[in-house]
Amino acid sequence: MSEPLLEVEDLTIQYEAGDEWLTAASDASFTIRSGEYFGLVGESGCGKSTIAKSIIGGLDENGEIASGTIKYKGQEVQDLSLSELNDVVGWDEIAYIPQSSMNSIDPLERIKDQAIEIAKAHTDYSDQEALARFKEMFEIVGIPESRISDYPHQFSGGMQQRAIIALALFLEPSLIVADEPTTALDVIMQDQIFKYYDRVREELNTSMLLITHDISVVFESCDRMAVMHGGQIAETGTVTDVYEDPRHPYSMMLQEAFPDIRHPNRRLENIEGKPPQTFGDIDYCTFSDRCPYAIEDCERGAPPLELANGARDQTEIAHQAACIRKHELDELARESENPATFQEESDD
Ligand SMILES: Nc1ncnc2c1ncn2[C@@H]1O[C@H](COP(=O)(O)OP(=O)(O)O)[C@@H](O)[C@H]1O
Ligand code: SF4
Ligand SMILES: [Mg+2]
Repeated sequence: MSEPLLEVEDLTIQYEAGDEWLTAASDASFTIRSGEYFGLVGESGCGKSTIAKSIIGGLDENGEIASGTIKYKGQEVQDLSLSELNDVVGWDEIAYIPQSSMNSIDPLERIKDQAIEIAKAHTDYSDQEALARFKEMFEIVGIPESRISDYPHQFSGGMQQRAIIALALFLEPSLIVADEPTTALDVIMQDQIFKYYDRVREELNTSMLLITHDISVVFESCDRMAVMHGGQIAETGTVTDVYEDPRHPYSMMLQEAFPDIRHPNRRLENIEGKPPQTFGDIDYCTFSDRCPYAIEDCERGAPPLELANGARDQTEIAHQAACIRKHELDELARESENPATFQEESDD
C-alpha cells in the first residue's frame, strides 16, 4: 500500500465572529495516500473550503486552527503560512485550485504570459519550452491552442476555469487540492476534465483532494472519500464502502439527492434544512436536527469516527462512520420504508 501523503488529524478550525468563535471544522480526520484521488463532499457551508484553505496555509484572517495536525509527507504543516509552506514543501508540490478560482488569475494579463511567469519562477524551462508545454495543457482541457494569447477576461466562465486547471497542472504537482473545480462546467466538459485528471494520475502518480457538493462526481472519479456535515466528518472510506454500504444517514440521503446510474429513473430527494452553524465546541451530532433516526443520545457528545465494518480493516484508511446508530441503519431504513410490516414483524 502506498505511503500517506496528507494526514489530517483531529483538526478543529474556528473563525472569530464578533465575540464568538464559529467552529467550521471539528475533530476532522482523514488520510490521502500517494497516487490516490480523495473526495471531500457535503453541502455548502459544511466546512470543505475551510479544510482546503488550512492545508495550503491560506485560512482567512479571522480563521485559526484551534487544535489538531496536518502532515504533508510526514511533516507537520498546520502552522505554516503559504510562503513558509512553499519553502518547506516546494511550490510545485501542492497545487491549489480555489473555489472562486476566477480571482486567482489576472484577467488583464495574457494567459500565456502568466504561464511563462510561473515556469520562470519554478522551473528551468525556456519560454519556448514553457509555451509548448502550456499549449499541451490547453489542448487537454479543451481550449483551442489559438487562444493562448488571449486575456482571461475574453474567456467564458467555463474556459477560465479550464485555463486555471491547465495552470495548476503545469508543474506536475504531487497533490492537487481542487475546490469545486468543475462546478461551473457542463457535464460533458466535467467528464473531459476528469479524463485528463485520470491521465495525470496514471503518468505522474499525482494525488488529488477533490472538493465538491456532488457525491456522484466523487463516486465517479475518486478512490476514497469523506462525507462532511456541519464541520464534522460523518463518514470516510473507499468510494465502494460509502456507495454500497453507507453507515451514516447523511451519506445515505446525499446519495438519494444526486443522480445514480443504478437508479436512472429515481426521483431525486431533497434534504430538508441545512447544516447548522455552531459557536464554540461541537459536542453533539450536527446532523441530529435533520436525521430521521435521531435519539436523545445523539445530542450528548459528538459521535466519534469509529470503524464501520467490524474488524475487517483497522488501518487509518478503514471505513469509519460518526453515528451512534451506524450498525442499526439497515434495520432503521427498512422500518421507515415499511412501518406496518416492521411493526407486525416486531410484534411476533
Ligand atoms: N472568514 C470567515 N469568517 C466567518 N465564518 C466563515 C468564514 N469563512 C467561512 N465561514 C463559515 O464557516 C462555515 C464553513 O464554510 P466553508 O468552509 O466555506 O464551507 P463549504 O466550503 O463547505 O461551503 C460556514 O458556516 C461559513 O459561513
Ligand atoms: S448520531 Fe444520531 S443524529 Fe447523528 S446521524 Fe447517527 S442517528 Fe442520526
Ligand atoms: Mg466551499
